[in-house]
Formats: sequence, structure tokens, C-alpha cells
Amino acid sequence: MSMELEQNEVVPKVDEFAIETIRLSKVFGKENKIHAVDNLNLQVRKGEVFGFVGPNGAGKTTTMKMLIGLLEPSEGSGKVAGYDIVREVINIRETTGVLPEPAGFYDNLTARQNLRFYAKLYDIEPEVREQRIVNLLETVGLTRAIDQKTGGFSTGMRKRFGLAQALINEPSVLFLDEPTSGIDPVGAQMMRDLIKDLNRSKGVTVFLSSHSMEEVEEICDRIAIIARGKLLAVGSVEDLRDIIRAKEGVNYLLEVQDIPLSEAAEAVKTVEGVTALEIQDETLHVHAKTKLRTEIAKAVRKAGGTVSMFEEEEMNLKKLFLKIIEGA
Ligand SMILES: Nc1ncnc2c1ncn2[C@@H]1O[C@H](COP(=O)(O)OP(=O)(O)O)[C@@H](O)[C@H]1O
Ligand SMILES: [Mg+2]
Repeated sequence: MSMELEQNEVVPKVDEFAIETIRLSKVFGKENKIHAVDNLNLQVRKGEVFGFVGPNGAGKTTTMKMLIGLLEPSEGSGKVAGYDIVREVINIRETTGVLPEPAGFYDNLTARQNLRFYAKLYDIEPEVREQRIVNLLETVGLTRAIDQKTGGFSTGMRKRFGLAQALINEPSVLFLDEPTSGIDPVGAQMMRDLIKDLNRSKGVTVFLSSHSMEEVEEICDRIAIIARGKLLAVGSVEDLRDIIRAKEGVNYLLEVQDIPLSEAAEAVKTVEGVTALEIQDETLHVHAKTKLRTEIAKAVRKAGGTVSMFEEEEMNLKKLFLKIIEGA
């Protein structure tokens, strides 16, 4: 009885992840020698801004194309918004928006006409359509260009227009392939702000690719680093820092009062895991195998000192990125 009831219930497609891939792979070329995407396992949570970072040729665009049904995987599988990337491409088209690189529009049509064209592809009713076009162009700051041909748009305008186009069907998942490449810094910032706002106000899951860590750090909740088709690391910037800390250790800078720095150094030297020490000017430089902040501070205090400055020498993002790539 209860079994029957359960079977008749309309169960919505519940999926924990907005995007999921299992051993997703794509090979190209003669004898399939180019492993553009190699055994990729990804899990992007709903409502997340997820950054996909890697150097040119890493496999970012190929991955995105497979996720939106433009390329068939050589091996492995994936789901977007709960739909299979091979068998349910039509559903994926309906629930996602895409900003490709480079974005192509009908350059002899105006912004409004272009959006009208895409809206028709999604069977959006004229009454809904016209207002949505106006709203979207306002969102991306192109109200004044609404009746201008997109052929005359600057790169920054094209990217923002591409974003409006990607949003025409009110998608729940947005794919943005290098959304700021080729734009000037002001335009790039505007684009990043737009992406952040969209995510916050509409809860859209964003999957964006970039070759810059600085860029993704600013707007992404989590980051995946990819090189030569392989996933090298996933997590928040802090998670990625932890990966490098585990490999390379941690550098601290300390200033101490109430006792001579040499005495503080002697005390810190006894902390297990501290592997190198150096006094430079009035600062103690400490290298530790892992995070040992509390232990080091305690040792200084025990020796009668007061820690007046205690910083971790943080690796900059570019270096962090290169470390992860070269460590692979
Ligand atoms: N259609 C194709 N035919 C052959 N090789 C391709 C094709 N598309 C991409 N590749 C190769 O696959 C690799 C990954 O490319 P791509 O996904 O465009 O990288 P990214 O977007 O990270 O710069 C590169 O070596 C590229 O040359
Ligand atoms: Mg690319």
C-alpha cells in the first residue's frame, strides 16, 4: 500500500550538485593522442560560483563544451542540473546559459534584435520577451545600446551582451568561458561585479573558466585547478593554500618584546616541527613543517616574551597557482 503511494508520487529531480562529472574524458587527434580532458571528477554545488582555472590548452573549453552538450565525451559521464550530458542535452539547453569564448552574435542585428532571436529559440512569449530583453540589457549596463548593432560593440560590451544573452532563458546554471579575457581592467571588474550580483540575487550556479587565480579568487567560492586535462586541486583559496602548506611548510614572521629576540629564537627552536630560524633586523623568521602558530606563541610566552607581531608569509596567488601546476 505505502509502496504504491510512493511510486505514484511525483518526485522532482533532486540533485545535490548543479554539476557533476565522473571520469569525464575527451581525446582528440590522430590515434586519439591528445588527452584534452583526462578523467575529470568534479562536483559543483548548487548556488556556488565555481572557478575553473588553468593555463591555455588545459582543457577548460573542452570540458565546458562537453557539459553543455556541444561535444560528446570520449569516456566518462556527467550531469548538469540533474540531467545527463549525453542523453538529456535538450533539458540542459533549457536550464543553462552559456557565454562562449569568443562569443558570436549576429553583428548586423541590434542588441534587442539579437536577444529577440535567442528568446524565440526558447519559445519565450512576446509579452514576456520584450520586457525581459529591456531588463537584461539594463542589468548588464547596455540600456543605451539597445538599438545599436552588436557589430560596433567594444570587447567589454560584447562580453556583457553575451552575459545578457546567456540569461535570456533564466537559467539555473551559467557557464562562462573566460568571461573577462581581452577586456580592460575596468570592464573586467564590472563583469566580475555583475557575476557576483547575479549569483547573489538569483542564486544562479556559476561555472566560470579563467587563466587567472586573482580573478577567480575575487568571485569564486571554490576553485578547481586544471592543467594538461587533469584536475590538480579543488577547494577554496584557503584549502589550496593548505595543500601547499602541507607540501612546503609555513613561513612565519614574529616580533617579540620583553626579551631579546635571540632568547625568543632559542625558545621557538624547541617547538617540534620548526625546521629553520633566522633573525633579520628586528624580526624572527620561522619555517615550520605545518601550521604551528599556537605552539610558537606559547613557547615565546613561556620564555617571558610578548609577541607583538605574528604573521604568516602568504604565498601570492600567482605563485600558489604555479606551485600547484608544477607540483603535478
Ligand atoms: N577540436 C579539437 N581538435 C583537436 N584538438 C583540440 C580540439 N579542441 C581542443 N583541442 C586541444 O585540446 C586541448 C585543450 O584545449 P581547450 O579545451 O581549448 O583548452 P583551454 O580552454 O583550457 O585553453 C589543447 O591541447 C587543444 O589544442
Ligand atoms: Mg578555452
